[in-house]
Amino acid sequence: MKNIVILISGRGSNMQAIVNAHIPSARIAAVLSNSSSAAGLAWAAERGIATDSLDHKAFGSRAAFDAAMMEKIDAYRPDLVVLAGFMRILTPEFCTHYAGRLINIHPSILPAFTGLHTHERALEAGCRVAGCTIHFVTAELDCGPIIAQGVVPILDGDSADDVAARVLSVEHRLFPQAVADFVAGRLKISGNRVINTERDTDTQALL
Ligand code: GAR
Repeated sequence: MKNIVILISGRGSNMQAIVNAHIPSARIAAVLSNSSSAAGLAWAAERGIATDSLDHKAFGSRAAFDAAMMEKIDAYRPDLVVLAGFMRILTPEFCTHYAGRLINIHPSILPAFTGLHTHERALEAGCRVAGCTIHFVTAELDCGPIIAQGVVPILDGDSADDVAARVLSVEHRLFPQAVADFVAGRLKISGNRVINTERDTDTQALL
């Protein structure tokens, strides 16, 4: 059984998708947040999942918050830490501590549109597609080996909310799959690439 700790900052719909997927050999050990009012915490607690929060505003520095968060996370002996809408920039120490077992979902087709307001910026740039990226986390913001990407069209007249909703439904499909692939040991990091051993086998069969 692999222990998974999920970090959220708000609604937690991606966390819900991962919990609801009932991934074989995965145990959601805890859902943690930087905000005690994150709606997703109540959802998880109602389902008997351990929850906890640490208010980042109570800490004097990013490093102090991350160190305290690491202590909380490590109490659950995680095999995987999942950032599911965790809206904090992480210190290099945090990223190094969980190297190879820390994954994030970002609402753009990376490397385009790192940071915030991704859908607004895609609309402003006149993009015809938007999407999401699930990647291993490294110290550089929204970088790191890419596990999976989903793409949706941007339609004439779309608002940023329209695009966000279309992307979110793809996030809810891809993220549980990526977690399942990790848990099953199907993801191998090779330089800046992630090889999905099962899908590569499929691809080879097609060639
Ligand atoms: C998701 O769209 C996720 O991609 C994004 O926040 C949303 C969280 O929604 N993450 C980031 O922007 C990280 N930089 P959720 O709380 O309903 O899962």
